[in-house]
Amino acid sequence: MGTRLSVRWTAVALLATLTGGAAPALTFAQDADNPYTSRLDVRTGRRLFGAQCSTCHGLNAAGGNESTGPDLTTGRFRHADSDAGLFRVIRDGVRSTSMLGLGADADEQSVWQLVTYLRSLDVTAGGTPTGSAEAGQQLFTGKGNCAGCHMVNGRGQRLGPDLSFVGDRRALADLETDLADPDAELLPRWWTMRATGPNGQVVEGLRMDEDTFTFRIMDAEEKLRAFSKYGDWTYERIQRSTMPGYADTLTADERNDLVAYLFSLRSEP
Ligand code: HEC
Ligand code: HEC
Repeated sequence: MGTRLSVRWTAVALLATLTGGAAPALTFAQDADNPYTSRLDVRTGRRLFGAQCSTCHGLNAAGGNESTGPDLTTGRFRHADSDAGLFRVIRDGVRSTSMLGLGADADEQSVWQLVTYLRSLDVTAGGTPTGSAEAGQQLFTGKGNCAGCHMVNGRGQRLGPDLSFVGDRRALADLETDLADPDAELLPRWWTMRATGPNGQVVEGLRMDEDTFTFRIMDAEEKLRAFSKYGDWTYERIQRSTMPGYADTLTADERNDLVAYLFSLRSEP
């Protein structure tokens, strides 16, 4: 929090410098680029939407009807053609309709997270895949050995997230990053824990849970191991993904095929 605040003040100071030291023009949030666009922001936005918007727009934002609340998943909006425009609609509402908006006092971060969530619903916004989904499926279970860690429709392993519906939640560019740079947006859920015993033996795996006294690791065989933090084992949290990056070990074509396959994995194809 403190960091974000100071960054914002730096930006204001910089602006003052750029405008020749004149009284800094006020920068309004709705004129800026959306600063909250991570996967976590999508999630928070979805939660906010469920609590505050779904009564009119439906749980998945697909809408009731024009009078209760229109479909917001098409990527096209009558009242906005940019993120900043959506910000204004969500904060200020649409005049003379039941779309009241959150009001002038609304928390800026929450409004942006709602924008991010709505943007995430338009799955074609980032383009459509160029690779072959069939070839990608072969790679997934074959050469790429992705199924060695990931489950798709009940088949595979649990050492990574279930990818059965990954196309619902990841845009094309995100999937490309997932493959090339797995550490890019790593949630603590996927940190690695390494425990070293008194004789130098090492147990490493996913950090399943951790409290003041204990932690549990799931090793590569999906076996759970529990440890005390006050025994004679030492431990270390490794905030890197167990998933290898594939930028070097798969060709660009192979990665495109995998992305096409992942993109096709949806709850509603
Ligand atoms: C009481 C019902 C109601 C609630 C609650 C509501 N909306 Fe709306 N919303 C509407 C209606 C009705 C419209 C269509 C307004 C019009 O153009 O006639 C609308 C329009 C919109 C639009 C513009 C759509 C477009 O095509 O430009 C957006 C974006 C939107 N709502 C987002 C939200 C978000 C986000 C929330 C929660 C913070 C929310 N709405 C809560 C009823 C509601
Ligand atoms: C050694 C285990 C392992 C292997 C092998 C592996 N992954 Fe992963 N993968 C993970 C873990 C753990 C995560 C979650 C942490 C992260 O985002 O890096 C993940 C995340 C992902 C995500 C993001 C999922 C989401 O919900 O956002 C995608 C997509 C993905 N992997 C695809 C692949 C593909 C395709 C392959 C094969 C080329 C592969 N993985 C191989 C462990 C693995």
